[in-house]
Amino acid sequence: MLVFETLMHLLHIGHDTTSSGTMWFLYCLAKYPEYQAQIQEEVDAVLDGRDSDHIQWSDLSKLKTLALCLKESMRLYPPVPFIQRELIDDTDIDGHVFPKGTLVTIAIMHLHTNPTVWEDRDEFKPERFLPEQTKDRDTFSYVPFSAGPRNCIGQHFAIDEIKILVSRIMRKFTLELVPDRPPPVRFAQATLQSKNGMWLKLKPRT
Ligand code: HEM
Repeated sequence: MLVFETLMHLLHIGHDTTSSGTMWFLYCLAKYPEYQAQIQEEVDAVLDGRDSDHIQWSDLSKLKTLALCLKESMRLYPPVPFIQRELIDDTDIDGHVFPKGTLVTIAIMHLHTNPTVWEDRDEFKPERFLPEQTKDRDTFSYVPFSAGPRNCIGQHFAIDEIKILVSRIMRKFTLELVPDRPPPVRFAQATLQSKNGMWLKLKPRT
C-alpha cells in the first residue's frame, strides 16, 4: 500500500510539474518568435535526412538553444513557485535568529527575479544561461528543482521529457499568441498555473 501511495505521489508531482513547465515554455516560444525560429532550425538540423521525426537520446545534447530557452522559461515561470521547510534547529540568517519549529517559505518565483542577481529581470533572455554568464552566479539563485538533499529526483527525466515533446511540436508547428485572448495570469497552486487558460494557435508549417 505504501509503495502504491508513493508511486501515485510520484506520478502526481512528476506529471503536474512537467505539464506546467511545458505549458509556460510553449507560451514563451509563442511570445518570443525569434527564439522559436532558432529552435525550429535547430530541430530541423538534427532531424535532417532522417525517415523519422523521433528525437533520439543522442540528439538531446545538440538542442542547445532549446535548452537555454527552457531554463529561462523556468526562471520566469517556475513550475514549483515556492517550497517550505520547518527549521529543526534555531537558525541564524544574516544575524536574525529564527527559532526551531519555524516554517520557512522559499519563494522560488521571487528568488528567480531577484533584481540584485538578474539584470532586466522580467525580460526573456536565454543567453543568461550561457556558461560565461553563469560562472559567477550563486548556484542558489536559480533553483527550479530546489537544491540540497531533498531536491527533485526527477529533474533530468523532466528536462528530457519537455525537450522531446517541444521538439516534436516545433518540427510540425509554429506557435502564435491568440490576439483576442488576454495573456495568461499566473497563479500559484502547488504548481504554477494560468487562471484563464493558455490560448495558442498551432499553424502547420509550410
Ligand atoms: C519540470 C518538472 C519538475 C519540477 C519543476 C520539479 C520540481 C521539484 C521541486 C522544486 C522539488 C522540491 C520540493 C521541496 O523541496 O519541497 C521536487 C521534489 C521532488 N520531485 Fe520534482 N519536479 C519536476 C518533475 C519531477 C518528475 C518528472 C519526477 C518523477 C519522475 C519528480 C519527482 C520528485 C520527487 C520524488 C521529489 C521529492 C524528493 C525528496 O523529497 O527527497 N519531479 N521537484
